[in-house]
Amino acid sequence: MSRAQRKIDHIHHALKTGQHRLHGLDDISFVHNSLPNLSVDKVNLNTTIGELSLSSPIFINAMTGGGGEETEKINRCLAQVAQESGVAMAVGSQMAAIKDRVEKQTYSVVRQENPHGVVFANLGSEATVEQAKEAVDMLEANGLQIHLNVIQELVMPEGDRDFTGALHRIEKIAKNLSVPVIVKEVGFGMSYEVTKKLKEVGVTIIDVGGYGGTNFSRIENERRTKHFSFFNEWGMPTAVSIAEACQFQRGTSVIASGGVQTTMDIAKSIALGASAVGMAGRFLSILLNDGVDEVIKEINDVHEELRFIMTALGAPSISSLQQVPIVISGSTHHWLTERGVS
Ligand code: FNR
Repeated sequence: MSRAQRKIDHIHHALKTGQHRLHGLDDISFVHNSLPNLSVDKVNLNTTIGELSLSSPIFINAMTGGGGEETEKINRCLAQVAQESGVAMAVGSQMAAIKDRVEKQTYSVVRQENPHGVVFANLGSEATVEQAKEAVDMLEANGLQIHLNVIQELVMPEGDRDFTGALHRIEKIAKNLSVPVIVKEVGFGMSYEVTKKLKEVGVTIIDVGGYGGTNFSRIENERRTKHFSFFNEWGMPTAVSIAEACQFQRGTSVIASGGVQTTMDIAKSIALGASAVGMAGRFLSILLNDGVDEVIKEINDVHEELRFIMTALGAPSISSLQQVPIVISGSTHHWLTERGVS
């Protein structure tokens, strides 16, 4: 099967497999504030991740790598959404375009549609410094996402089997690139230990990509008869991943992602300490079912709803939302207690 066909398969299986709300964010409750002393029009949604300033805490996370007509069309539509709504956007893995120049148009269309927006390039941790520079140049990208997807590779018969040296390659890229590096998971979460190692080699932005939304073990298993289904329930839910990554990581910006679907999910992710929130499966599903205008409407609605939630909490900014009191219950509380995360 060609790489392009595999990527199309991912899109269709992602929609079919859907999102299961296993991210743990339902274990987070806000403490109601009857005296917020704030008006809706004073709420500011600007945020920063590393050295990057964003006008919205939400962004379109990486989805369409691999090339081909269908992915180019999806990239074009997502770029139109990003341009209209002012949110940042990541493309899917660009390795196909680096290996086969014909595929470049799949990605460069993103910059053509959205000349001034914040765009993230994307590669796996097998990338070299030269490939990382090429991926960034291809899009005039403002940052580079490096994805970690060990479980997805293991479940694929044609996937990688050797994961040595990834941290060293990431360090070299982080030290040699002129734009910030974001290291991200793809739905299995990231622990305190991993985020600490990344910070030590100079990574300043981490996207926890937690368990509970799009599930690449399920997606890969559905595509074939030999099942590695023991990986279907594998991973750290998004809520615990955010809390672990934020615990001792001064100087590192944490991005929440993995199953984020509602404005309340976004608000809770930020209250756990995230500076921004990535959404992939949710936007893909609206785009393919209802079209570009509906994704734009969804983003505008989320911005309005977030302003209302922040007003109710008395939080005029993203940094003040990160500080509001929350109560953590259920298995998220249990996990964080066991792991010594407060
Ligand atoms: C992805 N994701 C992804 N991530 C990445 O870093 N590079 C990639 O090429 C892709 N490709 C891709 C294709 C499709 C169809 C989907 C749905 C997702 C992973 C994505 O960025 C995100 O980490 C996970 O999907 C979890 O977030 P959601 O979907 O639960 O919001």
